[in-house]
Amino acid sequence: MLPRSVDTADVEGKVVLVRSDLNVPLEDGRVADDTRIQASLPTLRLLLERGARQVRVCSHLGRPKTDEDRARYSMAPVREAVRAAIGDERVEVLENTRFNPGETKNDPGFARELADGCDLYVNDAFGSAHRAHSSTVGVAELLPAYAGLLLLEELRNLGRLLGDVERPFVIVSGGAKVEDKIGVLQNLGDRADAVLIGGKMAEDVRTDNPFTFEAILPVDVVAANEFAADAETQVTPFDALPDGWLGLDIGPETREEFARRIAGARTVFWNGPMGVFEWPAFAAGTVAVAEAVAACDGFTVVGGGDSVRAVHEAGVADRISWISTGGGASLELLEGKELPGVKAIPA
Ligand code: 3PG
Ligand code: MG
Repeated sequence: MLPRSVDTADVEGKVVLVRSDLNVPLEDGRVADDTRIQASLPTLRLLLERGARQVRVCSHLGRPKTDEDRARYSMAPVREAVRAAIGDERVEVLENTRFNPGETKNDPGFARELADGCDLYVNDAFGSAHRAHSSTVGVAELLPAYAGLLLLEELRNLGRLLGDVERPFVIVSGGAKVEDKIGVLQNLGDRADAVLIGGKMAEDVRTDNPFTFEAILPVDVVAANEFAADAETQVTPFDALPDGWLGLDIGPETREEFARRIAGARTVFWNGPMGVFEWPAFAAGTVAVAEAVAACDGFTVVGGGDSVRAVHEAGVADRISWISTGGGASLELLEGKELPGVKAIPA
């Protein structure tokens, strides 16, 4: 059951506290990627259109711990970006919620501070919905709470993967650590028609397979003689890496096989790169998967920071059905866990 939508709230003349996930990457004190800001705008615009008197937007930014972190993680650049995108005096972006040490402890005192003077609360922060913090859970107990448009879209799209999917259902998983993905694969893997595994985690699965389903592993890899962008490379069979060499990408035969399986799918979920795609010599596998997912005309979902970055870099983002704004949150949802930020909103 979905939480009740902001669309059903009477906001005319009201002061609305909105929790967005504006935790965006910064570079030299500026917003380096505004995807999450853009994704948060529809809810803010809806509130303004419906006559809200004031919209107070709050979010965390980074994981500030020390005093120096307070300068580094100030919301100022984010506030600037929101102002440039919306330009309505009624919208105010509050300072980083994590500057208050109570935030991550779901401290009721900090929740009261946030709720003070507000008439209702809208949680649109899907990316933070797996955190039980003052701004995601505590305030929902103090004010009438509603779900924002982005939060609902995420729940609908990712939720489709948990229901009766159109088949074939293909999961592509990669990245460095099997631990991060194990919960999702254990929850979805048995229901998939194929689970394709690349990246470093493929090696872990080969040596010690934790799954009850049969995972499809690479047949070949791009091997490197050292962990470096300009390492010497050669294509070798997956299970015959020369001593001391590292598999840093899936090989050409594997790329073709993975692309063929993705092309035949009606539902695809992809999380995690196929190799060290930040380095051009080891990017081909991840790019091939990104292109195959984009070319697939079924329902396709990409989640997780690195694979999202890869679809953008490959220039295919507009051909993916749904790109999640949540990393950890999307994984926990697909693990079958209830997200505390969602649970706190009445249905
Ligand atoms: C994210 O970027 O994954 C979310 O904003 C949550 O951030 P956190 O992992 O620091 O809680
Ligand atoms: Mg995270």
